[in-house]
Amino acid sequence: MAILKIARMGHPVLARRADPIMDPKAAEIQRLIDDMVDTMRDAGGAGLAAPQVHVPLRLVIFHAPTSRTEGEAVPLTVLINPEIEPLDAELQVGYEGCLSLPGMTGAVPRWRRIRYGGLDREGNRIEREAEGFHARVVQHECDHLDGVLYPSRMTDLGNFGFVEEIRRRMEGEG
Ligand code: NI
Repeated sequence: MAILKIARMGHPVLARRADPIMDPKAAEIQRLIDDMVDTMRDAGGAGLAAPQVHVPLRLVIFHAPTSRTEGEAVPLTVLINPEIEPLDAELQVGYEGCLSLPGMTGAVPRWRRIRYGGLDREGNRIEREAEGFHARVVQHECDHLDGVLYPSRMTDLGNFGFVEEIRRRMEGEG
């Protein structure tokens, strides 16, 4: 296992569409998943997409403790060749960060409730419904597979900035 180097915004691997994985059980995919889990834990992120570690394949991992979700914890999930559909038209705006934009944060509208599917690391089908933070992290990670970073989903770049500054501003408001 290894901690991988994370690509930062501006690197072309983050701007292209990633390719489907033909064989989830292939040894190099299993190794990539293990390394991505190590890398996400080391960096303290809630999720990581393969393009962020310079591998243009359709693979994301994510997890969230109950403190982030206001309810059920999101178990560590490996999702290969994922698809997402919204369950209704409701959007929710929330602050996001990304390991590829270190130190930055921005308010991003996302579908509040989604259904998502894909394959796990054994090639078994996963189907889930998610809402709130869980739905947000899945949408954020899957965007990476289409070359989309969260700033391009923002509707007001006035809510984009360095974490320390945005936090200071929010504390001032509160
Ligand atoms: Ni990200």
